[in-house]
Amino acid sequence: MAIRIDGKVISAQVLDGVASDAAAFLDSYGIKPGLAVVLVGEDPASQVYVRNKIARATESGLNSIEHRLPMDTTQDTLNQLVADLNADPAVHGILVQLPLPAHLDEEQIIAAISPEKDVDGFHPVNVGALSVGKESLVPCTPQGCMIMLEQVLGDLSGKHAVVVGRSNIVGKPMAALLLQANCSVTIVHSRTPNPQALAQQGDILVAAVGRPEMIGADWIKPGATVIDVGINVIERVGPSGGTQRKLVGDVDYAAVEPVAYAITPVPGGVGPMTIACLMKNTLVAARRLQQ
Ligand code: GUN
Repeated sequence: MAIRIDGKVISAQVLDGVASDAAAFLDSYGIKPGLAVVLVGEDPASQVYVRNKIARATESGLNSIEHRLPMDTTQDTLNQLVADLNADPAVHGILVQLPLPAHLDEEQIIAAISPEKDVDGFHPVNVGALSVGKESLVPCTPQGCMIMLEQVLGDLSGKHAVVVGRSNIVGKPMAALLLQANCSVTIVHSRTPNPQALAQQGDILVAAVGRPEMIGADWIKPGATVIDVGINVIERVGPSGGTQRKLVGDVDYAAVEPVAYAITPVPGGVGPMTIACLMKNTLVAARRLQQ
């Protein structure tokens, strides 16, 4: 049986640390670290994510400031809001929930956020800092994956890590962090011929492709540690014949679990870690801004 890497347990440890740091921050500066979360439109998955982020922020002793804007919000309105949040001394972290409605330019909005308040770590300044190994606000999902990997494996130096997927949000920053931890890193993606053959060489496999249960046992080196970033809703015919909605990862858990050394479940793996790291980044940003 593989070790089940429990994101709920590990994220609770991270959040405990955030809560005591937030209390110390309040003592020192007389204000709580402030996180502004901006949601445009009605995307149901984004609404759930934003609700969870606000709940965790409040529980951790942060001040959360929620801005919900209608679907037909213009780029100018959103830019003005971001400019106001950039200038607001009570706001230390700004998160604009993605994806934005199609008429809005995500890249432009991300670049409009002050890099010091960019708790997602998506601003080009923070992306650049990460790529040269300088201190920066590190994207939350890959940061959470690294905490889990280091908890189960200790030092990652010399390990071969295979990242499946090359998104700006997960794949690319994940590869940068693994490289910084002295792994040899391979990125496989949709244009890689025979990706399984490369994936099978990984001591570590991180799946971030957004395709339900795509990674089967034939992608896994026996004894590898598997991190599943995917969150996919699928519909399946249930035992009584009706359709059931189910949350699955990018990894076929039942098939891979017997082969792996350790594996994250979905749900309860990477998801809670992402939110915990967002709170951690808000504290990092708040401390730097307050100095
Ligand atoms: N949508 C899905 N994941 C993320 C994330 O990490 N940050 C933001 N802002 N939006 C997302």
